[in-house]
Amino acid sequence: MGRGYLQQMKCNIAIDGPAGAGKSTVARILAERLGYLHVDTGALYRALTLLVLGKGIDPTDESAIAQLFQDAQVDMVLEPGGVKVLLNGEDVTEAIRGPEVSETVSVVAQHPQVREHLLHLQRRLAADGGVVMDGRDIGTVVLPDAQLKIFLTASAEERARRRMKELRSQGHKVTYKDILLSIRARDNLDAERPVAPLRAASDAIPLDTTGKDLDTVVEEIMGYLSSVGRCGGCFTDS
Ligand code: CDP
Repeated sequence: MGRGYLQQMKCNIAIDGPAGAGKSTVARILAERLGYLHVDTGALYRALTLLVLGKGIDPTDESAIAQLFQDAQVDMVLEPGGVKVLLNGEDVTEAIRGPEVSETVSVVAQHPQVREHLLHLQRRLAADGGVVMDGRDIGTVVLPDAQLKIFLTASAEERARRRMKELRSQGHKVTYKDILLSIRARDNLDAERPVAPLRAASDAIPLDTTGKDLDTVVEEIMGYLSSVGRCGGCFTDS
């Protein structure tokens, strides 16, 4: 292309934060409004964890888990009802949300070989721009060049309340106390692991969602998008 030609390219948006901060819901709504693809990276770690549990493999056994990758295919497909997660072609969108997966996923996600395996998939999904990706290490490791980075937080108590509501509405019998404990345990494992820990990128915008409803949070991020000025159509000289 000649000099001065402006090619319109969609941005990538990274949303990171601890369990239950609302990342996935916020990311899904943003993606819908912008016509972007939503990539919930936790779902990828969850799908691999479901496989580990199904095969009866010890979640701390990194090399046994790495062996599994030989024939594990995790995909995300956009369908009219939303994004579906496929594990070896099987729809596991619901199955990956169960408490057993939630309790084990942070152990599986600690392994460098697991992270490396999923890193390529995540970067491939975002290669053409136009992705809202949520997780723990998106702004720091997966998409360090994302045009907008948000770090969502909320108090552990509020996050536990939200997660309890969500799980109960899906028919899971759970108590607030158990969820709070599980969220705190996961926060610790995610924040303290040596590889790609949960951390805000230095250029991420922190957003505390405690006491804020979903619409308010989404509007705040849309405001940041317009002040970034490039999103919804990043302009790049090519
Ligand atoms: O939705 P929730 O906050 O419960 O968690 P999730 O996003 O589904 O992620 C489940 C787990 O996967 C996290 O607790 C992390 O241990 C791991 N994870 C990660 O290590 N890196 C990511 N980019 C996303 C998830």
